Amino acid sequence: MLHLAKQFGDTVYVLRNISRSETYGLGPSRVTWRQAVALMPMRCYHGCVPALLEVRNLNIGFAMSAPKPDRASAPNPTQTLHAVRDLTFSIRPGEVLGLVGESGSGKSLTSLAIMRLLPPQAFVSGEILFGENGQSQNLGALPDESMRRLRGSQIAMIFQEPMTALNPVMRVGDQIAEAVLAHRRVSRREAATMAVEAMKQVAIPESDRRARDYPHQLSGGMRQRIMIAMAVVNRPQLLIADEPTTALDVTIQEQILGLLADLQSKFSLAMLFISHDLAVVSQVAERVAVMYAGNLVELGTKRDIFQSPAHPYTRGLLEAVPNLKTDRAIPLGTIDGTVPPLHAMPPGCAFEPRCALRVRECARSMPPLIEVSAGHWARCPVLNAK
Ligand SMILES: Nc1ncnc2c1ncn2[C@@H]1O[C@H](COP(=O)(O)OP(=O)(O)OP(=O)(O)O)[C@@H](O)[C@H]1O
Ligand code: SF4
Ligand SMILES: [Mg+2]
Repeated sequence: MLHLAKQFGDTVYVLRNISRSETYGLGPSRVTWRQAVALMPMRCYHGCVPALLEVRNLNIGFAMSAPKPDRASAPNPTQTLHAVRDLTFSIRPGEVLGLVGESGSGKSLTSLAIMRLLPPQAFVSGEILFGENGQSQNLGALPDESMRRLRGSQIAMIFQEPMTALNPVMRVGDQIAEAVLAHRRVSRREAATMAVEAMKQVAIPESDRRARDYPHQLSGGMRQRIMIAMAVVNRPQLLIADEPTTALDVTIQEQILGLLADLQSKFSLAMLFISHDLAVVSQVAERVAVMYAGNLVELGTKRDIFQSPAHPYTRGLLEAVPNLKTDRAIPLGTIDGTVPPLHAMPPGCAFEPRCALRVRECARSMPPLIEVSAGHWARCPVLNAK
């Protein structure tokens, strides 16, 4: 009775098709309420702000190339490499979600899937819903022309290395103006004025003069500011920032993070902030998603992730980061082993070969995401059964 649930519950979960085959076999267990909820996509049907972006069960794979005869460990040619597996998360309007994970965990592929810029050989399944007020559309099913209109206007992206994203033989002001002209019916003169205005908003001094510079005449930090100006000039609802500060030195990194935070609050921008650096993510994100080997292993508020991590991988990452309380006499924690290669993923929990808490069941099947507290999810039934 949905109307009764609506009166008494803050959040209503709607369950369907829970079968025994979906249970995770820890001891003589049946599907518990918590586990059953964990099997469902993370959607809020009442009492919370609707998502602006909702990624549901996203899978990205690549066909395996034929093995070279001299490589005994080369992969089976009939296999598909699963680079991103069953990824589900959402971002509310104006919210910053940090996406962290070590190199190769699938962060950039996820952002490229949202922008629909994956290479043509990638296999993609799942849904990417974008839009507000019940007007969401599945980006994967949009005609190319509609997607082109959306990209750069409602969803914009900034990359790690601006030099590869900027045109080296075009003045930076003209590049920002081009982004305006691609989406708005304005004259060239108006677009040029808007470009200079956007450069002022990202605190580029003498914007009128610098607009006539070429990318090579600007420092790395200034080039990243140009990228940000280009991304926000059309007032997008969602900004995807893929490692936007990784190529910069620490002081410039601080300035760019401050600038992104200012723009985010000024324009109520929703942001998917991607980084391998937990410290950077903790500065900008309200919620954090942790990826490991193509899987979402933990999702929660910044407080959940940094103060009560519920997945052994997240705990390991945090133990490896020094803070003011760290005792210098004790070596920092490390996570033994390496991320498994895509062609040799374990059948169960991807972290199992490196996990000190593993039990026999961990190697058998992929553990489900479990809601360990309201809005805090972790893919580890063992740690969270305690
Ligand atoms: N075109 C491709 N063909 C085959 N495999 C690919 C392709 N693009 C990416 N991959 C693989 O998919 C995995 C995820 O890549 P992705 O670039 O998303 O990682 P990432 O988390 O962004 O890492 P980094 O922090 O290094 O940027 C990697 O193992 C990568 O080698
Ligand atoms: S499911 Fe098992 S192997 Fe995976 S993180 Fe939890 S305890 Fe470790
Ligand atoms: Mg990347």
